[in-house]
Amino acid sequence: MNSQIKAVILAGGSGTRLYPVTQVVNKHLLPIYNKPMIYYPLSLAMLLKIRDIALVVNPQDRESFEKLFGDGSHLGMKISYIIQEKPRGLAEGLILAEKFLDGSSVFYLLGDNVVFGHNLPLVLEEALNEVLTEGGAFCFGYAVPDPERFGVVEFDASGRVLSIEEKPKKPKSNYAVIGVYFFDEKAPEVAKRVKPSKRGEYEITSVLEEYLKEGSLKVKLLGRGFAWFDAGTHDSFLEAGEFVATIEKRTGLMIGCIEEIAYRNGWIDREALIKLAKPLSKTEYGKYLLKLVDE
Ligand code: TTP
Repeated sequence: MNSQIKAVILAGGSGTRLYPVTQVVNKHLLPIYNKPMIYYPLSLAMLLKIRDIALVVNPQDRESFEKLFGDGSHLGMKISYIIQEKPRGLAEGLILAEKFLDGSSVFYLLGDNVVFGHNLPLVLEEALNEVLTEGGAFCFGYAVPDPERFGVVEFDASGRVLSIEEKPKKPKSNYAVIGVYFFDEKAPEVAKRVKPSKRGEYEITSVLEEYLKEGSLKVKLLGRGFAWFDAGTHDSFLEAGEFVATIEKRTGLMIGCIEEIAYRNGWIDREALIKLAKPLSKTEYGKYLLKLVDE
């Protein structure tokens, strides 16, 4: 168990790029292949052995998330909910989470991002350890063909960050900043200093910029061995689902299976896993869980 760090997953927002699908259903509850989207970022926190996790949710969706996860105890975790009254931007979650964080560092994740790659838990663990020992913030860059749609990070030959810009018209690199960040305990204070952008949102890029000004922002590039999807558009949503299906069918192993991770982490025992699997036993998902019990 990692007690110096808690995780916050952003699962609010308006989801306008997925309309009409998300007019009445929250994006993060939609299926990326065989499990709700929110399972993917949640599983990253669990792989880092973080048991204390808060979801930032819209008032109207709180009940659905609570139905799905309850208080997290069935997974041997503590899951809480933080209401964001209006989608005022990604940085607001850090301010709203101040009390929950209570001075700990934070693994901050966007609920609609799907990341997969060889040794990803190790890469994340290294970043986490750097933030826990040295403080500051840590983000990840990923090469994309359309950087102008994202936060873009520019860096020099030694990997030092030179600039970070939100949706620049003329991107200084083709590296997008993905929705997976680590921040030290100063994050809520730093987020409070940020002013809304031209589009009226508290941008996470502005928080990263503040850390950059202090000289304490680090970036690591995720290369060809990684796949990253911001599953917030119809195409990327479909592509993420197809990707997960392909990998799972080729390997026979699941990506983002929260019950499996809880079991392998030793947070739940065999009986608890069987209890979780039974209601799902008509699905491949449930059969997969039951197979784990016999391993
Ligand atoms: P976005 O995809 O940037 O925004 P959105 O989900 O509102 O979608 P759209 O642009 O299609 O209208 O948000 C990234 C993630 O952060 C996503 O998982 C939703 C979440 N989010 C919040 O929790 N609160 C917010 O205020 C915003 C803007 C997003």
